[in-house]
Amino acid sequence: MKFELQYNDTKTNARAGLITTDHGVIETPIFMPVGTQGAVKAVHMPELKDDIKAQIILGNTYHLYLRPGLDILEKAGGLHKFNGWDRPILTDSGGFQVFSLSENRKLREEGAEFRSHIDGSKHLFTPEKVMDIERTIGADIIMAFDECCPGDAEFDYAKQSLGLTERWLDRCFKRFNETEPKYGYQQSLFPIVQGCVYPELRIRAAENVAAKEADGNAIGGLAVGEPTEKMYEMIELVNGILPKDKPRYLMGVGTPINILEAIERGVDMFDCIMPTRNGRNGQIFTPFGTMNMRNKKWEYDFSPIDPEGPSFVDRIYTKAYLHHLIKVNEILGLQIASIHNLAFYLWLVKEARKHIIAGDFSTWKSQMVRQMDNRL
Ligand code: GUN
Repeated sequence: MKFELQYNDTKTNARAGLITTDHGVIETPIFMPVGTQGAVKAVHMPELKDDIKAQIILGNTYHLYLRPGLDILEKAGGLHKFNGWDRPILTDSGGFQVFSLSENRKLREEGAEFRSHIDGSKHLFTPEKVMDIERTIGADIIMAFDECCPGDAEFDYAKQSLGLTERWLDRCFKRFNETEPKYGYQQSLFPIVQGCVYPELRIRAAENVAAKEADGNAIGGLAVGEPTEKMYEMIELVNGILPKDKPRYLMGVGTPINILEAIERGVDMFDCIMPTRNGRNGQIFTPFGTMNMRNKKWEYDFSPIDPEGPSFVDRIYTKAYLHHLIKVNEILGLQIASIHNLAFYLWLVKEARKHIIAGDFSTWKSQMVRQMDNRL
């Protein structure tokens, strides 16, 4: 994997770059749609590629390991072959899902023991095992196995947790370096900066991660219950330490406004379930604010969902129609909302990139943040 930093904004820390993988080039800043179980919920691959203009999607180690399981993924020739997405893929390590989804999890030095949320079966994820699983899934970018510390954790817990994440990180790199990709293309391992909301821990974590000289670096443990201002503060602090010549990935964040604030602070890559999950609940993001399509006010609004929007769904369907579909729980309603929101997120990061290159990111960003804060 190669990262080329193309433009640095002069007024802020925003940057525009290019990540080159064996499955193609990614323009940054970028948003990565989440395909937890190997599918971006309710969206076809051609829609993702041609309409939404996704350049990279996510998969999840925890889910894919449980179902369909490694045997099927290996026999398929990896996730790209299995799901028909021939562009870059990133897999999260399960370091978040083990803690948020599984039952009876027990953390030990060796790894995390847990019971599957599907059938209660018992499993042990060690850093070595997670690296082996991510080799078998075959994503272009694979994440280290970490503990995502809750946003309200006490300092002592956060410090202990960071120690464990750091020791697990050494074991991840060791296993990664001892093993080879299985399908003939390269994989890059990204370490994750943890440390909760404690500057001292975040600094230590960022220095430790930077020393790994990885192809790219991630910031985790944010948007997990801490105040938004704390999140911005941590991003700023960590990005001051992470290498400038490597992509920076902020995990699991966030609202369109969070994304612009993080781009301003030097983040290059994002993922979040918000556009798809909130879409399925009827929340539609636009440049002028958010709309709740369940609201009665849309019942007779026969204007397009978003007349200037980037997706075909924005122009051919009306607000009244989407309101109806969501209200009666039609599958098409979920599809339209998911496609619209993802196309909007991809449009937003593309615009940010354009404005970074044009040199007026700061002015554009302030105006967008003001506009997007509205409830329509
Ligand atoms: N997704 C969102 N936050 C995190 C995190 O801290 N760690 C991992 N592995 N995934 C995440």
